[in-house]
Amino acid sequence: MTIPLVIDTDTAQDDCVAILAGLLTPEADLRAITMVAGNVGFDRQVKNAFMTFNVADKQVPMYLGSRLPLVRPWASAENVHGDGAGGLDMDFTGYSPETEHAVDALLRLAEEAEGELNIVAIGPLTNIALAVRKRPEFASQVKHLVVMGGSNNARGNITAAAEFNFYVDPEAAKIVFDAGFRITVVPWAPLTLQQAVFGRDVLERIAAIDTPLARFFTSVCSATLAFDESVGIPGTTHPDSLSVAVLLRPELITRSAEYNVDIETGSELTRGYAAMSWGVHGLAPNATVIEEIDAAGFQKYLLDMLSLSTTPPREFRTAG
Ligand code: RIB
Ligand code: CA
Repeated sequence: MTIPLVIDTDTAQDDCVAILAGLLTPEADLRAITMVAGNVGFDRQVKNAFMTFNVADKQVPMYLGSRLPLVRPWASAENVHGDGAGGLDMDFTGYSPETEHAVDALLRLAEEAEGELNIVAIGPLTNIALAVRKRPEFASQVKHLVVMGGSNNARGNITAAAEFNFYVDPEAAKIVFDAGFRITVVPWAPLTLQQAVFGRDVLERIAAIDTPLARFFTSVCSATLAFDESVGIPGTTHPDSLSVAVLLRPELITRSAEYNVDIETGSELTRGYAAMSWGVHGLAPNATVIEEIDAAGFQKYLLDMLSLSTTPPREFRTAG
């Protein structure tokens, strides 16, 4: 029995790895990807996604969504990710996204799946929030929404308080957490920082795999590795691919709990902060937050995937 899903993505670095997981994991029935403004320039994200399809030698419909957050200017993470693909480029002739808007596609795909569609949101939540605004019952039509975002009573990354996806569009995040979805949250800290960082030893093992997928992984993660090490993170971070992994392989989750998650939208100091309140605060839970994973199992899952043999139809070249 395969798992129908859509990945909503701001395709750069680990988003590419997450899309590979959706394309190549046997249990996955990846119906589409939807693009949202986030990490790097929107059109660059589209190219990064097409290059991900190319290295997998497999593609799904791509729908373009919001090029801006709901009410705020776009905030870039190009200082972290560079172009999001380590300078890779290729001939994009013939690759084109669908004409249907991503929000309409999300609404249609949910309706067509008759309550069985899962969504993995690994960028700012602008598209998901717009779908809720267009159809309030959208949340009840989605089986499970996995959200990469926020930190569980721990440090942010773009500010001390906020994780990037929620910082870029805090209004969208608030709409989504208030909408009634069944939500599972993959937080930045402590979970990602403690259990989903690949150190240089693991990166060397990946490089030694020497498949097109492994070489692509090394390239798209290279810019972020340099940034991570410059800020004291000892390797590449993989919250997005973990978000797809926990949907497809829920046995990777070894501890989670119910929280009330609410997003700061009023303060500039703590914009995008995700207050994750547990039972004692008397707030009704609206999300399951993952607290611990089988880190070795996750690592094996990704390295097994990168070991797959694919024949990219197009040659990559290094831009420049
Ligand atoms: O804060 C980490 C998140 O922000 C990841 O999804 C990364 O791709 C960026 O979008
Ligand atoms: Ca992302």
